[in-house]
Amino acid sequence: MAFMKKYLLPILGTFLAYYYYSANEEFRPEMLRGKKVIVTGASKGIGREMAYHLARMGAHVVVTARSAEILQEVVAHCLELGASSAHYVAGTMENMTFAEQFVAKAGKLMGGLDMLILNHISTTMTSMAPFGDDIRLLRRSMDVNFLSYVVLSVAALPMLRRSGGSIVVVSSLAGKMATPFVAAYSASKFALDGFFSSVRQEYSMTKVNVSITLCILGLINTDTAMTAVAGILNIEPSPKEECALEIIKAGALRQKEMYYDSSILSSLLLKNPGRKILEFLSLKHYNMERFTNN
Ligand SMILES: NC(=O)c1ccc[n+]([C@@H]2O[C@H](COP(=O)([O-])OP(=O)(O)OC[C@H]3O[C@@H](n4cnc5c(N)ncnc54)[C@H](OP(=O)(O)O)[C@@H]3O)[C@@H](O)[C@H]2O)c1
Ligand SMILES: *[C@@H]1O[C@H](CO)[C@@H](O)[C@H](O)[C@H]1NC(C)=O
Ligand SMILES: *[C@@H]1O[C@H](CO)[C@@H](O)[C@H](O)[C@H]1NC(C)=O
Repeated sequence: MAFMKKYLLPILGTFLAYYYYSANEEFRPEMLRGKKVIVTGASKGIGREMAYHLARMGAHVVVTARSAEILQEVVAHCLELGASSAHYVAGTMENMTFAEQFVAKAGKLMGGLDMLILNHISTTMTSMAPFGDDIRLLRRSMDVNFLSYVVLSVAALPMLRRSGGSIVVVSSLAGKMATPFVAAYSASKFALDGFFSSVRQEYSMTKVNVSITLCILGLINTDTAMTAVAGILNIEPSPKEECALEIIKAGALRQKEMYYDSSILSSLLLKNPGRKILEFLSLKHYNMERFTNN
């Protein structure tokens, strides 16, 4: 009991206060002016809206997806909106060689990289159907939604270290809570949390100045999502334009996690202070000298 009073309650109080009320630095669109940004899955939906916001803010953008013709239009519109520069590289994130070479190409086109926004998802996994026995679809979902994110990040890390840059990972409520009929998608999004939250701790322990922002989105009114949930789910979706802006803001402000949903209940409950306290307390078991002298 004495331990509880002396340590646990103050720690709990501090964490709760921090996670629910912390006042953030103010976002200014100028933060993105001249910044070099990659957006994946940018041919439509939230990714395309992010590219347009970044263009209005005067960033350099390189966008990717599979459909070259649509990307060409996105790039043209980015230039109209005021992008410092805009390019596209088309290809599929099922191919890890493409993923790796894409980052190198984008880095060359912009002369460096400040922000890597990982947003694409495998289209087959957005239809809401009960999980049967299709392991090939599950593997594709893990490849495109998870493994390629890791490959892209690894390829981008040298440039991001040089710029003190940011990795922004777009995830979902389905990456934080059980969600029926999207089991494979959900698994790939949980994997992102496990991987990128662990790597964030590693960066902090080894003084790598690259921020990682995990974005937890509720239902957003993109064509893909609206088609997938039509007649299945009765939830009011949030607008993709605002969603896209909130993701960019969170990345620019180097937030660890961002929640965007029409209900504030999800963010309030999913922020999970218990997990954050355990993660914080577990750090004292590591021999920090092993990590800080590199
Ligand atoms: N919309 C929602 O309700 C919602 C909710 C929670 C989280 N999210 C997350 O938000 C992000 C964007 O969702 P969205 O609704 O905007 O999706 P979307 O409109 O369907 O866009 C998906 C993008 O990924 C690209 N893509 C698909 N397969 C690909 C592949 N194999 N290789 C490379 N690119 C590929 C698509 O272009 P191509 O087809 O041309 O390749 C497209 O640009 C995703 O991470 C999603 O999980 C969305
Ligand atoms: C994967 O991408 C690389 C680089 O773009 C390309 O050379 C290779 O042919 C692709 N592999 C497949 C199987 O499409
Ligand atoms: C880390 O990078 C950010 C953004 O580039 C910069 O503002 C900050 O000063 C850097 N921190 C350290 C400790 O170098």
